[in-house]
Amino acid sequence: MLSDKILNALNKQIEEEFYSSNLYLAMASWCDKEGLSNCAAFMYDHFEEEKMHMLKFMHYINEVGGHAIVPMIKQPPTDFDSVRSLFKDAFVHEQFITSCISNLAKLSSQENDFQTLNFLQWFITEQIEEETTFQKILDKIKLIGDSPSSLYFIEQEIEKLNAVTLSGNSAE
Ligand SMILES: [Fe+2]
Ligand SMILES: [Fe+2]
Repeated sequence: MLSDKILNALNKQIEEEFYSSNLYLAMASWCDKEGLSNCAAFMYDHFEEEKMHMLKFMHYINEVGGHAIVPMIKQPPTDFDSVRSLFKDAFVHEQFITSCISNLAKLSSQENDFQTLNFLQWFITEQIEEETTFQKILDKIKLIGDSPSSLYFIEQEIEKLNAVTLSGNSAE
């Protein structure tokens, strides 16, 4: 049985994961509009991934006797200055999510809720992966540059990444 404190914190994380999915959907749409189809595909995939994260929290809460609440979420940004600033925003957002997960783990351990702490392990590992992915993209963009003439090469790099990630997902 979840304490009210943990239940509220887990429900808050549903909101964060839901917002993440909408943020990446907004980014996908912007990339699509800019003709960056590989960047768009990458972000559509992340939109799906964050929805899956949200569902993981929902299922866990309901399984252990709580009530998962579908939240109202604020509108994500619609415009981005450049593809580089879009990925930078995504990276900063993932850092924020990592801090949310760390706080949840800290709270679970303070409350002696080891079941929830165990559930959160998957997310702790996932956040390392997420931050690394976005950091690597930013490193590539730094090398390539993001002037209009560089966009083609950024698209090529993201295409390579999609080939690995998207085929990995379909195998799940
Ligand atoms: Fe997530
Ligand atoms: Fe994420």
